[in-house]
Amino acid sequence: MNKVALVSGSNQGLGFALVEALCKNLGTDASVYLTARNPERGEKAIRQLRDQGLSPMFHLLDVTDTASVASFAETIRTQHGGVDIVISNAAARISRDVAQSEQVETFVNTNNHGTFRMIGAFGPMLRDNARFLVVASAFGTLRNLSPNLHEKFDVTTRSLEDIERLMDDYVHLVEAGQAEEHHWTEWINIPSKVAQVASTKIMARLMREEASRRGILINAVCPGLVDTEASRPWFDDMSSVQSPAQAAVDVVWLATLPPRTDTPYGELVQHRRTLPWH
Ligand SMILES: NC(=O)c1ccc[n+]([C@@H]2O[C@H](COP(=O)([O-])OP(=O)(O)OC[C@H]3O[C@@H](n4cnc5c(N)ncnc54)[C@H](OP(=O)(O)O)[C@@H]3O)[C@@H](O)[C@H]2O)c1
Repeated sequence: MNKVALVSGSNQGLGFALVEALCKNLGTDASVYLTARNPERGEKAIRQLRDQGLSPMFHLLDVTDTASVASFAETIRTQHGGVDIVISNAAARISRDVAQSEQVETFVNTNNHGTFRMIGAFGPMLRDNARFLVVASAFGTLRNLSPNLHEKFDVTTRSLEDIERLMDDYVHLVEAGQAEEHHWTEWINIPSKVAQVASTKIMARLMREEASRRGILINAVCPGLVDTEASRPWFDDMSSVQSPAQAAVDVVWLATLPPRTDTPYGELVQHRRTLPWH
């Protein structure tokens, strides 16, 4: 059966490089979906890849919009019946010039609730030997959070909905200027990435038996530092930083692990190595 792959937030940055690499890796028989929340930016990205002789498909996808995610999932279901590779990559950027309290709601809605929407829409549609990845970060481990908060991220007992509510509470604390007195970091990227990894681990726990039987792998992945619109404003010199195409290599390795591979499963993986959760 021809492979079906999709990447959220893939009109630029790492997502674009992932679509490019998947098109090359999976060959012309595969259906690789480049998705974007903005049609013009999406079509521009599609043209860039078609100019290289690649044949990505295009679909609009705004991960903050439940109806948009459901509509894309319905397209995949009716056109293909299922999906082999899902990379939940879309992320809001943090602006240096805007207070964290003014960005946190959009940030969490995109990066966390967006991940939740992708899990809910595409988890039930995974084919045998599918690979489901959430692009997170090495920041997304418990060691980056106060021990006072670790129990809230107990991935052996918590539900996906628990993490959703926890992140809504976090948004309210940041907006009220009370994050630090409740042991959270003010810097919104860390709690958000920890929650993304937690949600991935919980999805993996909930699907463990079926995934094992059907050869499915579910993991979070850190691409390392990548030269993109998201990272560039934070560094003076990006000359030694990975390009998106370089960073895509290890992510695509994880997304294309061959059938009968049973590890890594439910892990955060960076450059082909598992990072400890605690
Ligand atoms: N860059 C790094 O150094 C680095 C390091 C560790 C982890 N990561 C992770 O890697 C992933 C990709 O990051 P990146 O650096 O490539 O970021 P980026 O260049 O800012 O690209 C983010 C992509 O997500 C899209 N997006 C934003 N909001 C969306 C929404 N509501 N619905 C759908 N798509 C949306 C953006 O679309 P627009 O073009 O319309 O804004 C863009 O295509 C993120 O999860 C990030 O946290 C990056």
